[in-house]
Amino acid sequence: MTKKTISGRPIIAPSLLSADFLRLEEEVKAAEAAGAGLHHVDVMDGRFVPNITIGPFVVEAIKKAASIPLDVHLMIEEPERYLEDFITAGADYLTVHAEATIHLDRVLNRIRELGALSGVSINPSTPVSSLENVLYAADMVLIMSVNPGFGGQAFIPNSLNKTKELKAAIKKAGSKTIIEVDGGIKPGNAAQVVKAGADVLVMGSAFYNSGNYKKTVEEVMRSVSGKRR
Ligand code: DX5
Ligand code: ZN
Repeated sequence: MTKKTISGRPIIAPSLLSADFLRLEEEVKAAEAAGAGLHHVDVMDGRFVPNITIGPFVVEAIKKAASIPLDVHLMIEEPERYLEDFITAGADYLTVHAEATIHLDRVLNRIRELGALSGVSINPSTPVSSLENVLYAADMVLIMSVNPGFGGQAFIPNSLNKTKELKAAIKKAGSKTIIEVDGGIKPGNAAQVVKAGADVLVMGSAFYNSGNYKKTVEEVMRSVSGKRR
């Protein structure tokens, strides 16, 4: 598997959870044409979160249609059991939840060993300080700005404080970890999230339900220009 790099800030990562699954290939291509930098793929197991979504076979199909990297967000218990399956299926970034595994350090290092970029996500109730000892092993930290499980929920304002705190912790650690924020992001609040320190903005419903993907990306880019750190 080749690691693809992403450039430009902020990166928009449309969440395919809100795409039309009957037209997945077209949706993937339309997101890319609109300026997406990553495809965010939400994997849910009905245990870690109440919802069930997709598995490695669908990730493999998305990979065939995609020309930009896949950002696979595992909202599953014991993610260590499935790292290889999702990386083989085409995950470029593979993100696990800190709350879902006992041996987080081992899991993050294993993701890198398997050739992908490692990500760790924390729920709204999990403190940023819990990641202090694993920042060195994480290419990305994903701050959940809603309680995971569903698209279309409202952004939790405290996520901005957590993003700022994480940005400071990464700086202090001298690490190259990038920050992704996921849940309730739309053109109206994207600038605040970027100002707080986000490198990657996940957008599900606000992107795929917008009717005009290109215009949505342009709106976000316009709102954040001049507000970057
Ligand atoms: C929620 C998922 C998100 C979701 C975002 O559990 O992790 O990626 O799809 O959707 P919006 O942008 O609609 O909140
Ligand atoms: Zn997600």
